Amino acid sequence: MTEAKKLFVKTYGCQMNVYDSERMAEALGAKGYVTTEAVEDADMVLLNTCHIREKASEKLYSDLGRLRALKVAKPGLKVGVAGCVAQAEGEEILRRSPVVDLVVGPQAYHRLPEMVEAEGRVVDTDFPVEDKFSLLPERKSLRGPTAFLTVQEGCDKFCAFCVVPYTRGAEVSRPVARLMDEARGLVPQGVREITLLGQNVNAYHGAGPEGVWGLARLLRALAGIEGLERLRYTTSHPNDMDDDLIAAHGDLPELMPYLHLPVQSGSDRILKAMNRKHTADAYLRLVERIRAARPDILLSSDFIVGFPGETDADFQATMDLIRAVGFGAAFSFKYSARPGTPAAEKPPVAAEVADARLQELQALVTAQQQSAQKAMVGREVEVLYEKPGRLPGQMVGKSGHLHAVHIADPVGRIGEMVRARVSASSTNSLAADLISRSA
Ligand code: SAH
Ligand code: SF4
Ligand code: F3S
Repeated sequence: MTEAKKLFVKTYGCQMNVYDSERMAEALGAKGYVTTEAVEDADMVLLNTCHIREKASEKLYSDLGRLRALKVAKPGLKVGVAGCVAQAEGEEILRRSPVVDLVVGPQAYHRLPEMVEAEGRVVDTDFPVEDKFSLLPERKSLRGPTAFLTVQEGCDKFCAFCVVPYTRGAEVSRPVARLMDEARGLVPQGVREITLLGQNVNAYHGAGPEGVWGLARLLRALAGIEGLERLRYTTSHPNDMDDDLIAAHGDLPELMPYLHLPVQSGSDRILKAMNRKHTADAYLRLVERIRAARPDILLSSDFIVGFPGETDADFQATMDLIRAVGFGAAFSFKYSARPGTPAAEKPPVAAEVADARLQELQALVTAQQQSAQKAMVGREVEVLYEKPGRLPGQMVGKSGHLHAVHIADPVGRIGEMVRARVSASSTNSLAADLISRSA
């Protein structure tokens, strides 16, 4: 038998890319590649890229620069660029970087195994009509008790700042039967929690038995799978939170009490300019309805500061919205103009102003995150162990609210679900005392 070829994969960007990297590694596995953590051992390096902000896409070129020396030392090394920069820049990547052998877009990566065997440099950034998911090998190389499952891909919303509709293409939902099969197949591999993924996951409308299913119906069906204990989904758009999905948060115990629901801004003027198609007030009313269904739910959001035309008053409206909601966590970004998007045509906010706003906003959301964590102290939580902690005899896992929880448990095993009482809150995690096993 010939020695296996080694594949090194680096993933940038969102959870969808994490899922895609795993599937690409499996597709190449069928061609004899095994993954390695050491780039210097690799016969092939695959960079799965993100285009969302300028900084994210520039990382690709600094990494490619560093791969140059490796390729000189090892001329047979293959270098592939996948993901959203691959889609956005295509052949331009070959021109800018001589080390790259192949460029593959997010909708074409099922063709990767053929591309790897092709002579010369190749680019595939098609949006093929065939369903790439059905052409990929079955999933079998899972490591932990949690897994991602892509149910929907692409976006038709065209927010004025965002590249995703261009890099991922139009919204497509995978059929119910395939998702049920993929989820059922994960359980015997030790998976107890699945996070459904989509750029617009709650716009899911997949072909199912008796017609088209929404996300709530899919969640209800998945909740019935024996051995699958926890469900989450991300990322949602406020306008796609329908009544059935809100109700599911109240009546599905498997659906965890945490929801990432990006609002981006609290100013109606900016929301309009962003093409978000809802007001700040509509978001607040939606939050009320979600909390009525599931009072202990933790909400998180994404925010962009310094969108073109954002005034101090607009920014203060965002701060007011944050104060009104009280988030458990939030991701915030300085606006980055992306080529080809409508907002990129508009005059930018001064960098110092945007920086100051970002700091002010981050201080507020950090304080909210800390108070959400402190509110857990004394409460009982269920924790799914994901890995050993840094201290001997310690395990780390996530609570339903997605807090990282450290527990002293010398006999604890990865994949075990336990009950514990939270004893303390530190910057990014909670500490808890074990109450009982197999919660
Ligand atoms: N589909 C998701 C998120 C997509 S990208 C949604 O609709 O919310 C993740 C986050 O990156 C966005 O929520 C937004 O806050 C941020 N983002 C997207 N484009 C950006 C840009 N041009 N500049 C700064 N942040 C951006
Ligand atoms: Fe981008 Fe808006 Fe689509 Fe989210 S909803 S992926 S922010 S265009
Ligand atoms: Fe980035 Fe593409 Fe995800 S741009 S955030 S990797 S969808």
